[in-house]
Amino acid sequence: MVSHELQVKTKSLTYRVLIEANALSAIGSELRLLFPATRALLISDTKVFSLYGEKVMQSLAKEKWQVTTALIRPGERSKNLACASRLYDSAVAAELDRNAPVIALGGGVVGDMTGFIAATYMRGLPLVMIPTTLLAQVDSSVGGKVAVNHPGGKNLIGAIYPPRFVLIDPLVLNTLSKRQLNAGLVEMIKYGIIEDSSFFAWLEENLDNLLQNDSNYLTSAIYSSLHSKARIVETDEFELDLRRVLNFGHTIGHALEAATGYRYYLHGEAVLAGMFAAIDIAVDSGLLNKVLAVRISKLLKRVPLKKAPAGLTATAVIDKLRQDKKRQDNKIIFVLPTGIGSVAMNAVKDEQLIRKAVENYIKAQADKPG
Ligand SMILES: NC(=O)c1ccc[n+]([C@@H]2O[C@H](COP(=O)([O-])OP(=O)(O)OC[C@H]3O[C@@H](n4cnc5c(N)ncnc54)[C@H](O)[C@@H]3O)[C@@H](O)[C@H]2O)c1
Repeated sequence: MVSHELQVKTKSLTYRVLIEANALSAIGSELRLLFPATRALLISDTKVFSLYGEKVMQSLAKEKWQVTTALIRPGERSKNLACASRLYDSAVAAELDRNAPVIALGGGVVGDMTGFIAATYMRGLPLVMIPTTLLAQVDSSVGGKVAVNHPGGKNLIGAIYPPRFVLIDPLVLNTLSKRQLNAGLVEMIKYGIIEDSSFFAWLEENLDNLLQNDSNYLTSAIYSSLHSKARIVETDEFELDLRRVLNFGHTIGHALEAATGYRYYLHGEAVLAGMFAAIDIAVDSGLLNKVLAVRISKLLKRVPLKKAPAGLTATAVIDKLRQDKKRQDNKIIFVLPTGIGSVAMNAVKDEQLIRKAVENYIKAQADKPG
């Protein structure tokens, strides 16, 4: 069985990430080693809990943990202050002390929400992440960004609050939809493009095994992805500089999500479209040569791309870009590839380049069936 571990060192603490098939059944004993507490709060969504709750609760019970569970409805609509308020009620009812871990069992929504509760309840309780989507395993569970949404925008209320332990069981991906898996693969490929050329080459060889949900290959690829993410967040935990490279594909990706009311794309699907646009802009700006652009695009094209919805216009996307929080001094800041494993932050002043790249995506996708 393939098993990997890594340490993430932040300013305030160092935490361990364990990636191992069937790791869910070890959660009770792992937490016993870490926390001198008897009680814990476990937050999940109803779908994930129905699939994996029993296994996790059995492992915790075996080590005599007294666990209060709090379940939210699956999906982004739960990620708000009203739902957080109900979770605080559960935390109060659980009579947690300061050493009691707050455990997130679920995808990015559960992770972000639980992290927000852990960061704020009793001025901070230890956070444990058990991410169950590929996106959460390779991205949101590590790095400490926690948040809830506000009607005025996504993730507007939040903090940087690193977990104390992350436990990743790649076998849970067996129940994940193909669409969700593919969206997570996009974030994985991102690490190869932005900072790890040997991982990029590995992905060129092995992407098909990942697309087929092979657990051994996924375990290795999750490790490589988190190795990159850890290096980046260790250098710039608070997103003052380097961490912004993680936003490759996200500038136009976020605008696409916003222009379609956050209902049409999965995050990774919009980011994939944003990556193609960023590659076009990088070539047109003279930052990336065409041969490398073709090589990067070839790998990305192996992940199914979501068709642009009928009626979407480049103008609608650009309007959303203008409102992007990454916009500085009237310029839109993009993360653009300059090679394989390297990117540059670039203030793109010529809006025509952006418009052309978005139109390319919309047109290429509109011509395709399905
Ligand atoms: N904190 C960060 O750094 C960061 C980074 C990227 C994204 N995010 C956030 O992550 C969220 C998206 O996360 P997501 O894509 O994981 O979505 P999600 O948490 O909504 O999960 C997607 C769906 O998959 C289901 N699911 C989860 N695990 C499953 C499994 N193993 N088997 C079957 N079904 C399963 C869930 O019930 C849900 O219906 C967004 O809110 C985004 O803002 C945060």
